[in-house]
Amino acid sequence: MAESHLLLLSLLCSLFVYQCHGACAEVDSDTEAVAGKGFKLGCISCKRRSEVDGSATVEWYFRPKGEADFVHIYTYNEDGPTIVDDHFMDRVDWNGSKRSNDIQDGSIYVLNVTLNDTGTYQCFFHRILFYANYEYNTIVSKVVHLNVVRKATRGTASIVSEVMMYVSIIGLQVWLLIEMIYCYRKISAAGEEALREAANAEYLAIASESKDNCAGVQVGE
Ligand SMILES: *[C@@H]1O[C@H](CO)[C@@H](O)[C@H](O)[C@H]1NC(C)=O
Ligand SMILES: *[C@@H]1O[C@H](CO)[C@@H](O)[C@H](O)[C@H]1NC(C)=O
Ligand SMILES: *[C@@H]1O[C@H](CO)[C@@H](O)[C@H](O)[C@H]1NC(C)=O
Repeated sequence: MAESHLLLLSLLCSLFVYQCHGACAEVDSDTEAVAGKGFKLGCISCKRRSEVDGSATVEWYFRPKGEADFVHIYTYNEDGPTIVDDHFMDRVDWNGSKRSNDIQDGSIYVLNVTLNDTGTYQCFFHRILFYANYEYNTIVSKVVHLNVVRKATRGTASIVSEVMMYVSIIGLQVWLLIEMIYCYRKISAAGEEALREAANAEYLAIASESKDNCAGVQVGE
């Protein structure tokens, strides 16, 4: 029971990472960027012992598609952010943990992505955990294979479902229209019928009344 609650909680947390303050979920980065737009390169490394004080620095490396070596592009440490590589100069903003040395989110935001940004990105967390009598060093790294496209590509499934949506909306509208016309005709026909009947009834009443009068007159004569 408790386990299923925990599972549900962690599922909710991974869906609403920003709402669940304090909880850390290692959500994978997106891997498709659109040329000319901004893109967040995600890199999250949760501290395993949340009760222990820690401090972390983050480094990002990039290997352009088709090249052999990684180049150092970005560092975030106690001195703040530093863009190391010319290709990314003035194009990278910090999107990770704010106002803390105890970084768990080391994501960066690349502005104005170009097709040349396609390639492999690797982030490194150098984390120190401060125990009472010693410090414990760890290094965690994550890899993001980024593909830059000229325009956002859409999954066939989403296109098909959009088309289906329009087809069903239009179908429903047409059906509604036909139904309305049919009902209108039926109602107006019924209305005419009723009017005719009412008129007939009145005519008959007047006729019979005048007949009576006539009869009275005849009697009087
Ligand atoms: C990431 O940085 C960009 C550019 O500074 C900003 O527009 C965006 O809101 C940031 N996103 C998050 C989640 O911090
Ligand atoms: C993005 O890059 C292109 C080509 O390098 C440049 O012409 C454009 O002005 C840039 N846009 C922004 C918002 O920096
Ligand atoms: C991409 O790289 C090629 C080859 O290095 C270069 O000629 C071109 O100007 C670059 N384009 C952009 C938008 O940076």
